[in-house]
Amino acid sequence: MSYLGASKIFNHPREYLFWFENGYTKAPITIKIDLTNRCNHSCYYCIDKSLRGSQDLDFNCASKLIKDLCSMGVKGVHFTGGGEPLLHPRAIDIIAEANKKGLECGLITNGSLLETVDVKKLCHNLSWLRVSLDSHNQESYEANHGKNVDFNKTIRGITKVVDCGLCDVSVSHLTGIKKQNIDLFIKKMEQIGVNTVQISPLINGKKDEQFEKYDSKKIKVIVNKEKYLSKKRTYDFCHGQNFKSTNVCADGSVYVCCQLAGKDNAFIGNLKNKSFPEIWSSFKRKVVVKNINVSKCPKMCVCDSLNTILHDIKNLRHINSL
Ligand SMILES: C[S@@+](CC[C@H](N)C(=O)[O-])C[C@H]1O[C@@H](n2cnc3c(N)ncnc32)[C@H](O)[C@@H]1O
Ligand code: SF4
Ligand code: SF4
Repeated sequence: MSYLGASKIFNHPREYLFWFENGYTKAPITIKIDLTNRCNHSCYYCIDKSLRGSQDLDFNCASKLIKDLCSMGVKGVHFTGGGEPLLHPRAIDIIAEANKKGLECGLITNGSLLETVDVKKLCHNLSWLRVSLDSHNQESYEANHGKNVDFNKTIRGITKVVDCGLCDVSVSHLTGIKKQNIDLFIKKMEQIGVNTVQISPLINGKKDEQFEKYDSKKIKVIVNKEKYLSKKRTYDFCHGQNFKSTNVCADGSVYVCCQLAGKDNAFIGNLKNKSFPEIWSSFKRKVVVKNINVSKCPKMCVCDSLNTILHDIKNLRHINSL
């Protein structure tokens, strides 16, 4: 079974067919919520560096958002981005509320706070949790995540969530970064009982030609091949944003894409003035989406493989010749 990949879209046949026939959707399937734009690490390559600030998503705003998402048919939420989600003082309450309302919740965290939080309550409300470790020891951790980090503390936190056994846990490692040793990283993860690791390339970074050789007999190694193999864009429109990529930032602002968050030309509204369903169905969003120049978007972006599939489907010829 694959946890990655654009083909997941076909598990949502109603939404997919609606898009196929109408060219738009009534709601995204998944959205991303930044609980905070604060971070206690300082990864030199951080995609969200420009969003860094001192804001936490307002709790009441988050509750209303969750309610609205459910009523419009959104199915999943990724709590990630902006900064370190677990720094939000009510992160676990917000995740619990989303889960209680029926949203499938995933969390991406640097893992530094897992040792100190209520892991049972957290994991009980998550379908999956991914820790971005990107290192195999203290030295490589510092080289990538900054000076103020404690490798052993994060390892203890990871062990705690693995032992708790209440959600799928994976640990990720980017490639194309400093002091990288993926083989030692995998060994370390085997030792502490992690059963899944994810390897993926730095956005806009140098591609790692070795990616095919990363493997383990003891644990599952998911190599994000789609990202390593992604080629020149074949599509000229972002169809994927109909289904995923919409990002709510910690200050309540909403962007059509997490990878364009903070950019004026991707801004579609703020939850302080409008509800999410209003923002989603607004004229402003239509104009912003229409004006996205995908040739200027980051390579290997969050919708790249989905856009490739959806573009191909829309442009197939001789469709009755299977
Ligand atoms: C921006 S972080 C926010 C969540 C949390 N602070 C963390 O690091 O897991 C979300 C994910 O983006 C990844 N990321 C950050 N910078 C990146 C880059 N330049 N290329 C690819 N992934 C990146 C991180 O490794 C992490 O898995
Ligand atoms: S821990 Fe996450 S948000 Fe913080 S600097 Fe690193 S990648 Fe960015
Ligand atoms: S970065 Fe990718 S997902 Fe985001 S708007 Fe551009 S094409 Fe779409």
